[in-house]
Amino acid sequence: MKKMLLTATAIVAVGAFALTGCSSERGGDTGGSGEETAKGFAADATIGVALPDKTSENWVLAGKLFEDGLAEAGFKADVQYAPASNTVAEQQNQIQAMVTNGAKVIIIGAKDGKQLATQVQAAKDAGATVIAYDRLIENTEAVDYYAAFDNFKVGNLQGQALLDGLAERAGHEAPYNIELFSGSPDDANSAVFFDGAMEVLQPKIDDGTLKVVSGQTEIAQTATEGWLAENAQNRMDTILTGSYSGDTVLDGVLSPNDTLARAIITSVQQAGKPVPVVTGQDSEVESVKSIMEGVQYSTINKDTSLLVAQAIKMVQQLQKGEEVEVNDTESYDNGAKVVPAYLLDPVIVTKENAAEAYANVPSLLEIVKSYQ
Ligand code: BGC
Repeated sequence: MKKMLLTATAIVAVGAFALTGCSSERGGDTGGSGEETAKGFAADATIGVALPDKTSENWVLAGKLFEDGLAEAGFKADVQYAPASNTVAEQQNQIQAMVTNGAKVIIIGAKDGKQLATQVQAAKDAGATVIAYDRLIENTEAVDYYAAFDNFKVGNLQGQALLDGLAERAGHEAPYNIELFSGSPDDANSAVFFDGAMEVLQPKIDDGTLKVVSGQTEIAQTATEGWLAENAQNRMDTILTGSYSGDTVLDGVLSPNDTLARAIITSVQQAGKPVPVVTGQDSEVESVKSIMEGVQYSTINKDTSLLVAQAIKMVQQLQKGEEVEVNDTESYDNGAKVVPAYLLDPVIVTKENAAEAYANVPSLLEIVKSYQ
């Protein structure tokens, strides 16, 4: 994925949008299915939504929001989750069933973005439009659109938050001892988050400001299989034993999301060591509380309701045979094509700006206020 160009691309895309008044793509590819998409479909058509296993709160919320939002828009919603076991095969079966049942649009939060090419091709062949939701689907031309938060920017914000947190909380001058964690290797987002963070952190590692004491800086060494908390906790335990015995202090940890952040913090606490600066993502309730208590340092607000609303808007545009609005046509190369994307803006959240960041998220704002 050519994510390094994202910031510049996004600016160009916004500029183009301002000049032309719209930046959009004709629904579907050229050929038979594209024709059908451009003509629209019945206002009460079935829309399939295939979500991965519930590895974080955002996925739980997305299912409910899709059920309600699609029904409100007049569609029949078929929302399925991949179960925690046999996840890839089950998601493949679920998508195939949606195709067979005549879904006009299939929205997919991929369990494993590299293993859905056959199913999304079947969807295209049946005349359906495929929208990748939050996670890109890779190595296939049969994915039409991508709706996501700007994942590279998420990584940038996490890297910067780690630096800011260290300056604020480490209690000493650089060098700072840090460790790096990344997400599940089967999720296309994991590398994008990591690359975004490393764009900020690598120069500081190179100039000696940051020291990765374990020496584990390659993404493969930092990966957390299945986004599972226990895997992050075990890896942190091992690193603490191997690299932080005696007086060596761990100052900071790059964590790609909140579930893993809390597991990392638990590991450090169980080892009887001071809690380092730990980043996160998703604004999960327990992490927002932890941030307000001064434990976890940061998270990211990716308001799920906005992303679901954007995906449903795409469905409505397709239904009417209108052009589908996108704001990025350069960044997300899935290995077979550049997938036209609508990217939303993620927001960094620390204790300091939490009330402002959650001004439009009543449930989280209430938590923040209860600490003030
Ligand atoms: C999402 C993150 C989430 C992770 C684990 C990623 O694809 O973008 O928000 O933390 O999956 O569920």
